[in-house]
Amino acid sequence: MGNTWVYEEKTFRADQQKELDAVFSLGNGYVGCRGFSEEEQGGLGRLGGIYMAGVFGRGKLKAWEGMHRELVNTPNCFSVKIRINGEPMLLRTGRISDYSRTLNMREGTLERSFTWNGLNGQKVRFRFERFVSMDDLHVSGQRIEVSPVNGNPDIEIAASIDADVTNLFVDTLLDRPVHPGLRHLKTVGVKSQIIEVKIESLPDGVIIAEGQEVSLKHRGSQIRGTDTNGESLISRSFKYKGIKGETAVLTKLIHVFTSRDGEIPPSKQVEKSMARKLEYSDLLNSHKSVWSGKWHSADIEIDGSDNDQRAMRFNIFQLIQACPSHDHRLSIGARGLTGEMHEGGIFWDTEIFKLPFFTLTDPAAAASLLRFRHGILPEARRHAKALWFQGAMYAWKSGLDGAEETEVGVGAYYAIHIISDISYAIRQYWEGTGDSDFMHKYGTEILIETARFWKSRAHYDPIRRNYSILAVRGPNEYGVIVNNNLYTNMMAAENLRYAIDAIGQMKKENPKAWSSLSQKIKFNAGEITEWKKIIGRIVICHDAKTDLYLEDDMYLHRVPFDMKRGKPTGKRVIDSTLPYEAMAMYQITKQSDVVCLMNLLPWKFTEKQRRIAYDYYEPRTAHDSSLSYSPHGVITARLGLLDDAYRYFKESAYLDITDLQLNTISGLHFANFGGTWQIAVMGFGGVHLENGRLVISPNLPKAWKKMSFRLACKGALLRICISKKSTEVTLEKSNGRPLELLVGKELLQFRLNGDVKTLKNNRK
Ligand code: BGC
Repeated sequence: MGNTWVYEEKTFRADQQKELDAVFSLGNGYVGCRGFSEEEQGGLGRLGGIYMAGVFGRGKLKAWEGMHRELVNTPNCFSVKIRINGEPMLLRTGRISDYSRTLNMREGTLERSFTWNGLNGQKVRFRFERFVSMDDLHVSGQRIEVSPVNGNPDIEIAASIDADVTNLFVDTLLDRPVHPGLRHLKTVGVKSQIIEVKIESLPDGVIIAEGQEVSLKHRGSQIRGTDTNGESLISRSFKYKGIKGETAVLTKLIHVFTSRDGEIPPSKQVEKSMARKLEYSDLLNSHKSVWSGKWHSADIEIDGSDNDQRAMRFNIFQLIQACPSHDHRLSIGARGLTGEMHEGGIFWDTEIFKLPFFTLTDPAAAASLLRFRHGILPEARRHAKALWFQGAMYAWKSGLDGAEETEVGVGAYYAIHIISDISYAIRQYWEGTGDSDFMHKYGTEILIETARFWKSRAHYDPIRRNYSILAVRGPNEYGVIVNNNLYTNMMAAENLRYAIDAIGQMKKENPKAWSSLSQKIKFNAGEITEWKKIIGRIVICHDAKTDLYLEDDMYLHRVPFDMKRGKPTGKRVIDSTLPYEAMAMYQITKQSDVVCLMNLLPWKFTEKQRRIAYDYYEPRTAHDSSLSYSPHGVITARLGLLDDAYRYFKESAYLDITDLQLNTISGLHFANFGGTWQIAVMGFGGVHLENGRLVISPNLPKAWKKMSFRLACKGALLRICISKKSTEVTLEKSNGRPLELLVGKELLQFRLNGDVKTLKNNRK
């Protein structure tokens, strides 16, 4: 039995620190901070890694359109230099004993403690604690305890905010940072304990202001500090005589604002925030209580494996702390705010992998993430028009304003499934929440504009007498460019259907809002007739002989791929062996494609068809993307292939903890975190939304005796407890309306309302 709320590193290994720094990240959606050692200076360690949502600089590559941007490594606000009898305290040089680094996921804190054995025989015990407030997004806290174990050493501590940092240079082939990258920051002002910097690499560069309040207490009294300002550094330092067995405590609050936060200049906002004279302990307590509320709705309790429980919580923890639900101008990048791979870009990862978690546990956060897509609708419209299409064409990789920021050469213009992925997430949100207001203000407009895009992108082929979508890149990026990718075609048809439904609903529920929307976007009723034609006649690649759904027009005709030759070391195919130019010849799938589709639209495929597809594609799938394990986990769990499903769960849940993709150093994999949640809830729990109803059809793996979790559905809160024998659903919070559920293998229909609060469905 271990504490399943903490993830702990017990041995210090200098060579693994950078990978682990990502794993030990803290954040609150506004700022994200890797778990680096505060006292480390120089080398890659200097780069620390503190990123802020929406704070980008000009990147080093060429983007398809507009500017290539990257997340900026912002000032290291936790920087500290410590000297004991004149010797620098560094983990790399001193001998360390009783070391531990602990991520407390329940409370959202990072702790490190160790005994440092200096070269001159001096021993000092240290304990570091920090947190990034979930309650007050602009404030973080740091606490350092220093306790001499022998002797009475001279101790010097300088706590700083250090803006002399650069980005990492991530080698895209290796997926790893190899040396320091661009320097984005220029100091524009330094005054007592406040520093202001500008992102110099952009003409309209964001301004960041940071201030620190630092104090040091020893033997009951405050030690006087000395303030110094450097060109890109503010510091407060203390000197005192340590005493064996006595603990000195340094506390520091960091206040941060940017020019994105409103009209008031950021340094004024910092001054105002500092003037509140907050107490470290009060701030920590309010932070913990916000976390406690978050866990109440999002935790999944697993009875049967402590390791799985801990890993599950790690995935949920990271998802929650990456979400910028305070600001609908933002979404979650592929690596969140934990690293620089993919430069903070936003992909389908958000809508298909992360959104289900937010829709069903924190609908307000889900709405905010979807509003981001509404905000960039003008750019998506412009994009469509520039390429001779209609409606809205969302970028494959969006930065802040929605421009296509994928690097040239990656084939961004073909990965258009992103467009219906966004529509799918909107539809799921609507089904899960019943939030008509959202639909009337934002959702319906997106559905119509994306439907218009598909109308212009699908083309009627008079020879085949149906509609094709040619030259696309499906989720399987190793197909390079294909015709009639099944995923793209079926999801496009869904998108058209969702638009028709949403229009019907809006006309009924809010005719006034519909009339102004339809005028604004010049909607004409004939459009629906056209959409219906495409829905009815779009190419669906399917082999009638074997009942196998085909990834695209040519998949069966390609050359079989020798996976052993392609992945001799288990490393990524694209990196190590197969030349990109040759890839399109082979039957090789980078990541789940048909399998992913079958999970999204389970009602469209029989159990037998899903099994045939899984058996066929699995041996042809390289799992070269972190987005591959979870769809395989969900499909196998739903098919009752529980050993396979459990294996995928392990791969997904422990992916970053074990550095399975060999690139955790460049940031954590947030789509995979959402995917892990999906294997548990949508795979083992068998949960999905269909026609506005929640379906729960569980299948627990052998290793788990019970699993329980909460779901928010249509304004109600449900607690679902699944054992091998029964499924129990309790209505913990109701909005007065009855809720319809389908539960169990036999899909029994239930209505939960004020009278019936708990139902128990025993397995046969
Ligand atoms: C995957 C994409 C994914 C992107 C960002 C790529 O390697 O193939 O599906 O969207 O990474 O996570």
